[in-house]
Order: sequence, then C-alpha cells, then structure tokens
Amino acid sequence: MKNIVPSPPPVVRNDAAAVQALFQQNVVPSYGRFDIVLSHGSGSYLYDVTGRRYLDLGGGIAVSSLGHGHPAITEALVEQSRKVIHTSNFYYHEPQGRLAQALVSLIGPGKCFFCNSGVEANEGLFKLARKFGHDEGRFEVITTVNSFHGRTLAGIAATGQEKVKKGFDPMVPGFRQVPYNDLGAMRAALSPATVAIMVEGIQGEGGVTPATPDYLLGLRQLCDEKKLLLFMDSVQCGHFRSGRFQSFQRILEGVPGGEIFLPDGISMAKSLGGGFPVGAFWVRAPYANLLGAGTHGTTYGGSPLACAVALKILDVIRREKLADNARQVGEFLKTGLQCLATKYPTVLQTVRGLGLMLGIELAPNIPTLPGDSSKTPATRFTNLLHAAGLLAIPAGAQVIRFLPPLNLRQGEAEEGLKLTESVVATLAA
Ligand SMILES: Cc1ncc(COP(=O)(O)O)c(C=O)c1O
Repeated sequence: MKNIVPSPPPVVRNDAAAVQALFQQNVVPSYGRFDIVLSHGSGSYLYDVTGRRYLDLGGGIAVSSLGHGHPAITEALVEQSRKVIHTSNFYYHEPQGRLAQALVSLIGPGKCFFCNSGVEANEGLFKLARKFGHDEGRFEVITTVNSFHGRTLAGIAATGQEKVKKGFDPMVPGFRQVPYNDLGAMRAALSPATVAIMVEGIQGEGGVTPATPDYLLGLRQLCDEKKLLLFMDSVQCGHFRSGRFQSFQRILEGVPGGEIFLPDGISMAKSLGGGFPVGAFWVRAPYANLLGAGTHGTTYGGSPLACAVALKILDVIRREKLADNARQVGEFLKTGLQCLATKYPTVLQTVRGLGLMLGIELAPNIPTLPGDSSKTPATRFTNLLHAAGLLAIPAGAQVIRFLPPLNLRQGEAEEGLKLTESVVATLAA
C-alpha cells in the first residue's frame, strides 16, 4: 500500500484568483460559495491554496466521517479499484451484499437499496410510499416545517422551506408540511390520501433541532393506527453522528418503549461514504419486497468501489469506537459552547444538538456583527469563524452548525472552542 497515493504537495503558490475565475466562467453559479479555495486536507484540518490551515468542524456538511486523507479510505479505494470499480446492477457482487448486511444488522430486520446521494435515497422512499398506497389511491407524504430533504423536484416539494421552492413551481404533488415536534398538527394534517410521514431525527438545515422522544413514539403509534409508513431522513443526523448509529436510537435511549422503536424506512448518505458518494435506504422487513425487479434503479448505485469504502468506514468506526468518541467529544464541545453562550449572551443565544451534530443560535440583532447586511447573520458569523481559521456551516439565518469528523479529538474540539470564543468575544466587546 505504501507510496501508491502521493501526499499532496505542501503548498505552493497562491492561485486562488485563477481557480475562482475558472468557476466564474465555467461553473453554474447555483451555490453561494465562501471566499476560500481549498487545496488538501489531513485529519480534521483543511488547507487552502495559500497554505492556510483551517480546523474543519463543518466536515463537508456532515460527510467527512473519518476526516481528510484517512489511510483506511485510501486503502479501500486502491484495493477495490484494483479488483473492479463498477459492474452495474445487472450482476451480484460481494461488497454490496456485505454492506447491506452490515446496515441491516445496525438497524433491524429489513433490506437496503443503494444510490448515490441523500436526495436519491429520499426519492426511493417516496416511490416506495407511492407503491405501498397505489391500489388505495394514497400517495401523499407529510413532512415538517424547516425540514430539508434535498434538491430534486420531489426533494424540494418535500422540504419545509420556501427558499428551496421559489421559482420552481409547480411543485410535485403529494407533499405537505406541518410544524415539527407537534404530534397534534401531524394528526390533524392526515387526509384519506396520506400514505407516509417523513421526519428528520434531528433537523439539520432547519437549525439543529432534535425530535423529542414523545414525538417519535407518537408518530409510530399514529402510523400504526392509520396504516401509514414512517420514514426517517437520516442523511445528516445518521451514521453515529449522534453517538448511536441512528439518532432515534440515541433520542430514545432509556425511554420506555424506545428499545423496540423502528421506522419503516430510513434514508442515508453523507457520512456513509466519508466523501465518496454513497446513498442508501433501509426498508423494514414487511415492506422490503415492495419494490420488485424493474421498479427502481440507478446505474452507479451500490458499486463495488462505493460499498468497499462504506464497509471500511464502518469497520474503522467500530474498531476505533467512534460512536463513543462522537458522544464524548460532542458532549465536551457542547458544554464548552454552552459556557460561551452563558458568558456572551448578547452574541450566543442557545446551543442545541446531540453528539457531533451541534448548532449555536445567534442572539437576534447583534449590532457589532460586520459584513454585508444582505447576507444572513449566520453567514456573516461564519465568515468571521473562517477568518479565525475555523470552518463551520450556516443553518438557516441564525444558526451555525458543527458537524466535524467522528474521530475529532478532544484537543481539536478545545481548539475549536478557543477559535469560536475569539470571534464571539470580539462581537460582545
Ligand atoms: C436531512 C437531509 N436530507 C437530504 C439531504 C440531501 O442530500 P444530498 O445533498 O446528498 O442529495 C440533505 C443534505 O444536506 C440533508 O441534510
């Protein structure tokens, strides 16, 4: 394995302007990008083309589960690509079967389908719901306000945020939103056409809000009573980020009835592939054969290469006890952030989240917050974190998310707290 992949050069020359010009001329400007041109990464750090180092507590939006440049991922990529990268789903191969088995054993009796992204995993669940309700004319999926389910046409119809829908009317029919963590609103919203409910265990883009245990148990009961499928979008909050494989397992720890809770479908992506594009959904056993041969598919889904990487990541997470690490370092980071919120209440209002999925909510109208007032406070605050050497991710207008690698060390969390305080203290002064 040695010397197969050369280390990236320790930088180099500042070609940031040239790279940005390439984007301006050739890349569709659908993303609001920060003014940073990255070059390479190592562990929990990313480096820009000027050689500047950033502590990456954004983790590429909850993707880089083992950080950057992890040798186990490199090894899986190299070894599997020597055997075979792609076969198509016309044929069987061992890595896909083994990955499905691993996911089923982490969740419960059922089966998996593989795709390439989070939104595709959700699309698969939406199709499953339509198939389930088809003969009774049921097709509607109820989701929640402030949810995020991806950017395809069905994804934006399912998402509970107007900003993703604007300009793309008419919406795909069959999606409605009700307030999150409000069981009464969910019950009241059901119609004869309703076939499924989809919620995030912890709303991510919507501002890092965990579901309450009562909400999850109540949704299960409601779905059983009304013959609905209960789907959980675990694209962001899943894969041990909360300290357990699935966020509902963490949320329901020690709650009576929690140990037997299972949704009917779970979408996954992001940390599953650690940066290599892999998506999947798990479907509970009674519904596991609903999508029969010819009903659903994607060329690249569950390729040998993608599955080999995902299997290796699961292996590292298990061997290095990274679920415990997410819980412990997450608790350390959360406590530290809470201390900052107590010390600087004019800047930080609340801290939310579980494990290594944490959000800080800014106080309203911070008069000292610099930057372009057409940008959200969260974006302006994130710019300050970047200038201090810390990468984080805005979530909505007022919240900043920390979604670091699951192997983040306590010392790195401590560094993150110091960098955050350096920004917060300036604003409070
Ligand atoms: C909860 C949730 N669902 C779905 C998606 C869409 O995933 P992808 O961007 O991989 O399509 C995201 C992406 O941020 C997400 O956070």
